[in-house]
Amino acid sequence: MKHSEVIAVIGGQWGDEGKGKIVDYLATTADVVIRSQGGDNAGHTVINDHGKFGLHLVPAGIFNPRTLNIIGAGVALNPKTLMKEIAELTQRGVSFDNLVISPKSHLAFEYHRFIDSHQEAARGAKRIDTTKRGIGPTYMDKAERIGLHARMLLYPDRLLAELDDILASKRAKLGVDNEVLHADYYAEFVHEAAATLRPFIRDTEVLVEEHLHKGSRFVLEGAHGTLLDLDHGTYPMVTASNSTAGGLLVGAGMPPLALTKVIGIFKAYQTRVGAGGMPTELHDDLATTIRERGQEFGTTTGRPRRIGYFDGVAARYAHRLNGFTDIALTKVDTLADLGELKIATGYEDAAGAASQFQTEADLLANCHARYQTFPGWTTADLAGVTSYDALPESLKAYCAAITATMPGARLSFVGVGRSREQLIRL
Ligand code: GDP
Ligand code: IMO
Ligand code: MG
Repeated sequence: MKHSEVIAVIGGQWGDEGKGKIVDYLATTADVVIRSQGGDNAGHTVINDHGKFGLHLVPAGIFNPRTLNIIGAGVALNPKTLMKEIAELTQRGVSFDNLVISPKSHLAFEYHRFIDSHQEAARGAKRIDTTKRGIGPTYMDKAERIGLHARMLLYPDRLLAELDDILASKRAKLGVDNEVLHADYYAEFVHEAAATLRPFIRDTEVLVEEHLHKGSRFVLEGAHGTLLDLDHGTYPMVTASNSTAGGLLVGAGMPPLALTKVIGIFKAYQTRVGAGGMPTELHDDLATTIRERGQEFGTTTGRPRRIGYFDGVAARYAHRLNGFTDIALTKVDTLADLGELKIATGYEDAAGAASQFQTEADLLANCHARYQTFPGWTTADLAGVTSYDALPESLKAYCAAITATMPGARLSFVGVGRSREQLIRL
């Protein structure tokens, strides 16, 4: 058996670190790319020869026609979103000959979105600020054992009969009525989705096993970020899947020992969309400047992202959970021309004692970041630079300080712009 290479690409923060860009780059030499958790709450931006794309469900390896792209069992699959993405990308010349959908992925429908919004409204001040894509409700159905597998698209009439039962019980539980809570609403759509998506539905585990035996190169495309992980994130302000390394393996149906590399993707500063603690958050003009320069508005919802200094304590925590072998640091160009910059290198709790990252809201709220200050760099310093050595010393010191928060991991990529080429390899 030849040795395969399996690279997990994992968001190290609260999402939107630049995973799409890194996967697109790695996919140029990958045999298989797998999206294995989360749903269309993810928004992965890719800018390459084909143009600019905001992908929600289609794996970012789709642009390489020789890469097999798998949507794994762990994904919450909204067929409407997927069909829209396939139609748009096809129109722009992207081939879908190499897309495979696991029959075990769970279908997300309009009623999941409706319930997501309904739950958010009911939470009041405790709302999570979800993307309202129905992802929490889809995974709730999965755990309740009333979810619908993508395989059911092969049998549209059976699927509609199941929907009839499920929606009757939803109406009874919610005590509300709406057209999306009736199976009739889906009658036409389910047949259309069945016809469009049927060719892609195929057992994925055998394919993965064959590729592992062939010595193929895999990229596992993580969605969301470590601090949004259902078990290890800032609960309850988290998403509904496991976005850490283990979650990617489960969702892909891949043996854990196959993993050979874990790349943590980090933005050179901190962002967060939605509610929850964020010890290094900035509320001044600097936040506005970074948000505008970095176009920090959600790929999925368009919401302005909250901005903060790089949080080395949170990074250390993400490293503890994922065991990063490599780090990709993106968007250092966004921080150019801002003068001195800070990195949080420690937390103090309310009593002034040193603290680790905390995931419980009340404990995290008591954590105060301690900062180290670094000299900045300018846009002119970065112009035309294609090697790490040629980067300004100030930026190298900044990168080194971030890498030092994650012992044992090496810095492998530095992003200096949005396009595929604007990536320095070390
Ligand atoms: P993802 O969810 O982790 O794939 O990240 P998003 O696509 O949601 O957000 C990352 C944003 O940063 C996108 O607008 C990317 O085009 C952009 N981006 C990624 N890397 C870089 C970089 O090195 N420099 C700049 N300026 N933008 C980048
Ligand atoms: P990518 O893959 C940023 C956040 C939402 C909300 C919380 C729960 O593009 O990095 P959900 O709709 O998942 O139930 O919302 O999680 N969230 C993300 N934030 N990037 C993402 O994905 C996110 N996916 C979920 O904003 O706070
Ligand atoms: Mg995103």
